[in-house]
Amino acid sequence: MTFRLPPFSRRGFIGSGVAAAAASAVPGLALAAERPLGPSLAALARAKGVRFGSAVGAGEPGSLTGAFEDSGYRQVLIDECGVLVPENELKWYVLRPDARTFAFERADRIAAFAKAHDIALRGHTLLWHHPKWFPAWLNTYDFGQGPAAGRNAQALLVDHIDKVVAHYPQIDSWDVVNETIDPKDGSIRRTVFSDAMGQEQTLDVAFHTARAAAPKARLVYNDYMGWEAGNEAHRAGVLKLLEGFRKRGTPVDALGVQSHLGTEDPAAPGSLGPPQEKAWRAFIDEATGMGYDLLITEFDVNDQNLPPGVAARDAETAALAKAYLDLMLDYHQTKEVLAWGMVDKYSWLQGFTPRKDHLAKRVTLYDDAYRPKPLREAVAAAFRSAPTRA
Ligand code: XIL
Repeated sequence: MTFRLPPFSRRGFIGSGVAAAAASAVPGLALAAERPLGPSLAALARAKGVRFGSAVGAGEPGSLTGAFEDSGYRQVLIDECGVLVPENELKWYVLRPDARTFAFERADRIAAFAKAHDIALRGHTLLWHHPKWFPAWLNTYDFGQGPAAGRNAQALLVDHIDKVVAHYPQIDSWDVVNETIDPKDGSIRRTVFSDAMGQEQTLDVAFHTARAAAPKARLVYNDYMGWEAGNEAHRAGVLKLLEGFRKRGTPVDALGVQSHLGTEDPAAPGSLGPPQEKAWRAFIDEATGMGYDLLITEFDVNDQNLPPGVAARDAETAALAKAYLDLMLDYHQTKEVLAWGMVDKYSWLQGFTPRKDHLAKRVTLYDDAYRPKPLREAVAAAFRSAPTRA
């Protein structure tokens, strides 16, 4: 039976969108095309008190390439997402060509798209506190000497956060600080800001400024410490940071757990090992015990080291995702789930860690013809079986 919804009620329900159209063009997939997917991921999540959405990149201004210019990709976002997050467009290296200029155009295009489709917007990130991700001019910025250096650094950081937050008053959830813990030893990374202001002070200034600028927004510390073996020092460092925030009264509402799940090769030097469920639960228990909410902020599943066969790869990534999401959604503190991209060909992981056999990775919920994959069903099933939260 073909399911067709009248246009006015289409949002929140999938079955007549581009995924079905694309599938019907592929021989052998007519059946899948006819079968409605049912409620969108946003609707399934919402029924449990969770917000679901995705990152999206907007490319260069005026560019006709990139995910955001692809109508098929846009349709997947419209069909599935309750919230969007600019993938790179709010980072200093895109927004800040120099100390005076704010280049909002690219993020504005995503904001306008979200508004036109009644999709919420979340912010990533006000301070990716890692010199590697600072614009070059910032890494060599001269704040002067002595106490003046601290004041000047603080003025630049506060001005940035004030202006960016004020430009997007609709953003109700902010990754204020991103990835400041060094996974090697759990220490706080040094930057020009922390050299001038102090490490804790820099992070505290960021959160206090964000709170004052957006009193109602959820303020998040976001990082990639994962459940795989090899993340022990990273997790310990994040817990120490979270404890410090609480002791000092720093306004942080939630821990963003990036959740770039990986099927890593334990034999490779420096690689991560298998999931450590018990240690992971202990980590999450500690964070929630301190009163933090949780967000899954950058979900994808790296199939880098899985055998080439598509069906087996898809089954394995889906099973891993279901186990992980079940665990996380069991915590009523988990309030948002963000995919880091919705269609394989646009995933950052294609370029970041290519497969040795050069096959395209299958790391997101939809394939390159905008057909939902078993990973999409795993996410849907996790929402269906999740307990309801307020
Ligand atoms: C990544 C983007 O996806 C890439 O396009 C970009 O080149 C680098 O950053 N952790 C984060 C995200 O917090 O901002 C990163 O996004 C992925 C890892």
